[in-house]
Amino acid sequence: MNATILSPTDQNIAAAAKLLREGQVVGMPTETVYGLAGSAFNESALAKIFSVKERPTFDPLIVHVGSDAKSLAKLAALALVDPTRLSTVAAQRVNLLIERFWPGPLTLVLPKTARVPDLATSGLSTVAIRMPRHSIAQSLISAAGVPLAAPSANRFGRISPTSAADVFDELGDRIALILDGGRADVGVESTVVHVSESGELTVLRPGGLAIEELAQTVRAEVRTYNNRAKDAAENRVAPGMLESHYAPRKPLVLLSCPLFLLTQLQQEALRQLAGSARQVGLLMISGSEQEAAARLEAILARPVTARCLSRSGDLSEAAHHLFAELRALDGSSAELLIAENCSEPTGLGHAIADRLGRACSKKI
Ligand code: TXA
Ligand code: MG
Repeated sequence: MNATILSPTDQNIAAAAKLLREGQVVGMPTETVYGLAGSAFNESALAKIFSVKERPTFDPLIVHVGSDAKSLAKLAALALVDPTRLSTVAAQRVNLLIERFWPGPLTLVLPKTARVPDLATSGLSTVAIRMPRHSIAQSLISAAGVPLAAPSANRFGRISPTSAADVFDELGDRIALILDGGRADVGVESTVVHVSESGELTVLRPGGLAIEELAQTVRAEVRTYNNRAKDAAENRVAPGMLESHYAPRKPLVLLSCPLFLLTQLQQEALRQLAGSARQVGLLMISGSEQEAAARLEAILARPVTARCLSRSGDLSEAAHHLFAELRALDGSSAELLIAENCSEPTGLGHAIADRLGRACSKKI
């Protein structure tokens, strides 16, 4: 198979919706990253999503709903969520979050109904739901007439795609159609929030919606899930939060302090890691590319190409560019990649630090 990238005309959206109704999968733009969409109620479409991505079936999918599903009652009417398993406080919080942040980069993990196939949820009793803000995603859901399960449209463990061309690079040989919705606006995936039956909120994955905004809205504590906790019960809550993910093909070393503050010992460790690499790619969150490249060239004594995510250090702008720049460096002639991390993250910095932490092969 060789995917066709189509502009999002009404006719092309109708063609994509037809494939979805027939149980096929298609590349769909969203405001966070591109998704690999299939009907959420069709087991064979769900099985295709897992096989096309080579994704293990223990990692559940997010179900994308249309803009008319803007309350808990409407999610129940779609046969997605079982609201009887939520306390009054939990139901109020869910409605508040939906009202405030949908459509947008917030995914809610809620009690599922029996109608949602176990394949979509990896056998969990919950289902992850989000209402995308991208108008093409909304048109596609509406034309297909069903909620769409869609993980990011990359091969499992690799960098998420933020353009139709990226989806083609990842899955072009495995799917028939990719709708081109332009460069993804947010650039990192949605923030995934688990809502317990009593109404406790836990961020399972930091993402495009800042955690601070969530906490302000519900006026309650929002916990963050500790991926490294070896608590079996917690691992059942967030089965897909793997330590290695979003990885480039080339080795990526993550700096635990700013480039300009590296100690002699760290510089020596970096030289060792650089080994015989003839060229090095450097990813910076902020600052000047020229200055950063010159600094690293002085340490490593070899050519460095530096890319900066936001000259002024605006973390939303940095998140927007993160995966695209990582992908560009991965495709460049650099043989080793080095990234500066987001120190003391706030806002979208949590998502950036999370993605870089999982993308790297080594930290110094
Ligand atoms: O922005 C996004 O969320 C993108 C776009 C395409 O919408 N989608 C996305 O999907 O990032 P994916 O499959 O790459 O990531 C979904 C995450 C995984 O970490 C998965 O484990 C978690 O959501 N998840 C899904 N259902 C869950 C559930 N019932 N309980 C806990 N975690 C769940
Ligand atoms: Mg993904």
